[in-house]
Amino acid sequence: MNLSSKATCASHGQDSSYFLGWQEYEKNPYDEVRNPDGIIQMGLAENQLSFDLLESWLAENPDAASFRRNGESIFRELALFQDYHGLPAFKNALAKFMAEIRGNKVSFDPRNLVLTAGSTSANEALVFCLAEPGDAFLLPTPYYPGFDRDLKWRTGVEIVPIQCTSSNGFRITKPALEEAYDTARNRNIRVKGILVTNPSNPLGITLSDKELNLLINFVESKEIHLISDEIYSGTVFNSPRFTSVMEILLDRNYVDTEVRNRVHIVYSLSKDLGLPGFRVGAIYSNNPMVVATATKMSSFGLVSSQTQYLLSAMLSDEKFAKNYVVENQKRLKNRHMMLVQGMEDAGISCLESNAGLFSWVDMRHLLESDTFEAEMELWKKIVYDVGLNISPGSSCHCLEPGWFRVCFANMSEETLNLAMQRLKSFVDSIYQSNDSYGFFHNFSVKDSRRRLLKKWVFRLSSSDRGLERDR
Ligand SMILES: Cc1ncc(COP(=O)(O)O)c(C=O)c1O
Repeated sequence: MNLSSKATCASHGQDSSYFLGWQEYEKNPYDEVRNPDGIIQMGLAENQLSFDLLESWLAENPDAASFRRNGESIFRELALFQDYHGLPAFKNALAKFMAEIRGNKVSFDPRNLVLTAGSTSANEALVFCLAEPGDAFLLPTPYYPGFDRDLKWRTGVEIVPIQCTSSNGFRITKPALEEAYDTARNRNIRVKGILVTNPSNPLGITLSDKELNLLINFVESKEIHLISDEIYSGTVFNSPRFTSVMEILLDRNYVDTEVRNRVHIVYSLSKDLGLPGFRVGAIYSNNPMVVATATKMSSFGLVSSQTQYLLSAMLSDEKFAKNYVVENQKRLKNRHMMLVQGMEDAGISCLESNAGLFSWVDMRHLLESDTFEAEMELWKKIVYDVGLNISPGSSCHCLEPGWFRVCFANMSEETLNLAMQRLKSFVDSIYQSNDSYGFFHNFSVKDSRRRLLKKWVFRLSSSDRGLERDR
């Protein structure tokens, strides 16, 4: 067809079960009234828990969303603004917000911030700034499936996995770092850096100070870069608290060192504020060349001026921003507890976690064999028969079959409860059935709904009986 190799190559990763699950959900989405047997979307790391806080702020500050400043229209000013350095007021507010999330233990100079259309764009722009096609970044596994697209597809850069396992809770170790580095070198691939997510997507855990120091020592000794994607930094709902790599640099007094210029942060408001549709992301770098180059590149994915204007007003309301972060974390903690409890009731355990919009769930005991084929079989049953779209570990490049990422913040409590009930019915039926194969083929959401309805009717009628007794 005479198209470019980019148009025809497979490195975008859209065939991954991560994206296929979304397509299946789109074909048959759950709706309490219109489609109660539909698929519940648990494969999307969206935060819908605190929209009411944002909406109340908007109601109290009508100027911000209606192109007005002190009641006067600034429509023309915003319509014409196209400076790729971004609105200074917004960059100031974003820098302060990032510091607030880190307990003001570090500060951010707005001049080192580059605005991008989300973290997707920030990660790609950084890779373009730091590496040539054919170079590699090392990434701890399991990792966010979107990285195959964001880091590799258009840049031609490779990802070499740092293999982490459940034996130590998927923590990064020095031998694993060395092994990944050597693997790349043995394949004649130049390693340009390491990219970590802190807190981790999909694990929902924060990196420890030990891991962060290990990473800094490693990039220092190998003379490579470190990208820390801190898109989930505001979602840390339990101890240990979040430590940014910038804090470690400060602790180590790396104020004017080479390595400080090789550490870069990626951020976005898609998760912490729950605004992925607004496409607001940023690169923060201490390296002036990286800042200058990324700023030029940001022309390909700017944040619109009215979005910057609205969010500069919102985030510079410090009382609101502080309260939002605290309240949002409280809500996430509650949701996380609901998910972990629901899983536990179904005999499934989750990796202990303290952050994020998802849990890393251990379903190894439900596999028919210890293989990725069995993981896919189980995943298909969970999507099509149980009606839950969750993300298989293999889509996150996990080394061990049987782990799944399950999101909990993109739905109502009722929907989460229903999802947990469906899962429990599924697991119970496996145990009740002598012939698990027979069960797998016979299970359906409708059966499980019938069972749930029976239980519900029974509960209702027994509570009615209770009421009669009370009378
Ligand atoms: C670790 C990580 N980085 C980047 C992104 C992309 O986010 P954005 O919507 O800001 O492009 C995501 C989204 O899920 C993510 O989980």
